[in-house]
Amino acid sequence: MNMTTQSIEVRKLPAALGAEVRGVDLREDLSDETFAQILRAWYDNLVILLRDQDLSEDQQWQFGSRFGPLAGGHIPELEGSREGIAYVSNVRKDGKLIGILPDGEMQFHSDQSYREQPSQGSMLHAITIPRVGGNTLFLNCYAAYETLPQDVKDRLKGLRALHVYDYNLNPTQRARTIAPDAPTQLQPVVRLHPVTGRRALYVSRLITAYIEGMPQQESDDLLGMLFDHMEQPRFTYEHVWKTGDVLMWDNRCTLHARTDFDPSETRLLRRITLKGEPAIAG
Ligand SMILES: [Fe+2]
Repeated sequence: MNMTTQSIEVRKLPAALGAEVRGVDLREDLSDETFAQILRAWYDNLVILLRDQDLSEDQQWQFGSRFGPLAGGHIPELEGSREGIAYVSNVRKDGKLIGILPDGEMQFHSDQSYREQPSQGSMLHAITIPRVGGNTLFLNCYAAYETLPQDVKDRLKGLRALHVYDYNLNPTQRARTIAPDAPTQLQPVVRLHPVTGRRALYVSRLITAYIEGMPQQESDDLLGMLFDHMEQPRFTYEHVWKTGDVLMWDNRCTLHARTDFDPSETRLLRRITLKGEPAIAG
């Protein structure tokens, strides 16, 4: 097999998280050494961006699989869907959507946090992008935790919160009610990253419903305060997509959200979702 060791350059983005990794052609079969550098950049920067890539579904799958096993999510009725791969798109064929999450703004969340083993990371490859909007916002949950006052950190110790996702109701905005059959999972409010050993806030406006064992008003107030704190621009990076971008984020220490865009314009990205491990309380 023809392995390529490429000399990579990691440039931090001018934001609270994220780095651009340069000098890599992901169509090549990367050496272990090159991949280790990419992995290090990912752990250090939480989000990595590789511009000007042109990957087939199989090439993207090969690269994604080096980070670990892919999560399920094969949706047979959708275009090109296979284990761990889906299209995020508003494209329709014969009147039917070919992908998921077609339109509109989407609130901050961490992928699959409503599962017992949430995804460790996800990757998007931009194929067709609207002229304006449909940007993805990323949020640094380490920084959000570390900047909390000590009394709030003390208050969060040992707390768990219920994560709920009702895809059938509305996958992009918080539901007012919890459907009895919606997937739910209790998660630690503060999560320890298994690789970096750092603590991160692990709640989100889209998915976290309430704090276990706390009166509702108190829970709403505490979560509302945490969401407002986390979503400050000083903890975020707003990614404006270009065709060819490959962007990968760590679901254990970041949240992401999407800005609105004109639904009459085409938006097509190919997504890979990695499997993960149960969250460790921090
Ligand atoms: Fe997501």
